[in-house]
Amino acid sequence: MSEIRKVRGFQDIYGENAKKYRFVSDTARKIFKKYNFQEIILPYVEDVSLFIRSVGEATDIVQKEMYVFEDKGGRKVALRPEGTASAVRAYIEERLYAKGGYHKLFYEGAMFRYERPQAGRYRQFHQIGAEIFGVDTPLADAELIKMVKDILDELGIQVRLEINTLGDFESRKKYIEVLKEYLKKHEEELCEDCKSRIERNPLRVLDCKVETCKQITKKAPSLIDFLSEESLQRYEKLKEYLKSMNIEFIENPRLVRGLDYYTDTVFEFITDKIGAQGTVAAGGRYDTLVQQLGGPPTPALGFAAGIERLMLLVENLPEEEPLTTVIPITSDFNIQAIETADKLRKKEIKTELLLKEGSMKSKMKLANKLGSKYVVFVSEKPELKDMETGEQEVFENIEDLIDVVTKKVKEV
Ligand code: HAM
Repeated sequence: MSEIRKVRGFQDIYGENAKKYRFVSDTARKIFKKYNFQEIILPYVEDVSLFIRSVGEATDIVQKEMYVFEDKGGRKVALRPEGTASAVRAYIEERLYAKGGYHKLFYEGAMFRYERPQAGRYRQFHQIGAEIFGVDTPLADAELIKMVKDILDELGIQVRLEINTLGDFESRKKYIEVLKEYLKKHEEELCEDCKSRIERNPLRVLDCKVETCKQITKKAPSLIDFLSEESLQRYEKLKEYLKSMNIEFIENPRLVRGLDYYTDTVFEFITDKIGAQGTVAAGGRYDTLVQQLGGPPTPALGFAAGIERLMLLVENLPEEEPLTTVIPITSDFNIQAIETADKLRKKEIKTELLLKEGSMKSKMKLANKLGSKYVVFVSEKPELKDMETGEQEVFENIEDLIDVVTKKVKEV
């Protein structure tokens, strides 16, 4: 029979990679908790119009990359390509704003984009992300960036931070008109993708990687000249706070992001170590989105990081707890072995009960293969073997042995 293969762009994450995934996720969760963020578990499927109205009709995500299908009830739904839209929908639908104050939420899970797969880019990938609803202070921008930096530091990942400001909705609208005019004049020199972006999404031309487009946009009118006094002040404050926190950053006026909802602050954490897909975490403000999706005017901001991309950069995993393997010397001791394993586990000891029958030699081979640090032989006189030193000790009863092994494991 022929083998069935996984779908292109989808991955099995197992072994060492699964450990890396868990390390990234646990680390982010630990930091979210420290910053007092609350978890929100969002659906994987949403009404397709949610993404059209938030991520943007003209964006690559909506135009080319969404998994859209009709469910059996005839609803047009999409597998979520990102988490912010769902978080905003939930914020509005669950009336979180009615509770007053402000809200800090985090989420984790799979996202789906029909992109061309390559290293660091998959069709199903996982994000950890966070959103803050109801605060418009630049302090919030700085704190969010600091939190992402803390996660990266804790993971031992070094990347550069790039920041930019897109201004408020009105000033950006004015700028887009001027930019369009300029790009139209140079249409012939632009790449095919950018030609079609002039009307659809002119800001994206600014971060095109094609050399000729880069040359043209170099001389394009600059967004900074269109910014309102308020936007400029916010940007200055953010830079001041980042400096005070010793967070290094690069100002990149070409940083525009691929989603339409951003206003004012945008940022990306980028590495050159994993090829073309170097952005590991990204986000910014989206002060008009909540209202755009039917909620009350609510300033908001957030970020998301790609877990798989962070995994590519994780070099050192935390040391694992040693494994203790319980071996009944014959099947007559199976019941005592079950009880022994149970007692060890109740002491929080990572325990393997050797499940295979066979000669003692084959069982020891297996215990070795499993990476056991200690082996407990269950018989009338239980024995404990340290697999690293080869030391072996006989005990009068199993309770004494358990006390000794527990002490040894917990000492490490
Ligand atoms: P994004 O830049 O589209 O932003 O994605 C955030 C991160 O997800 C990227 O920096 C990257 O690490 C990862 N990522 C994106 N696409 C893929 C892919 N195909 N394969 C692997 N990793 C990928 C957002 O999604 C926004 N929702 C971020 C945000 C939250 N802005 C405000 N709040």
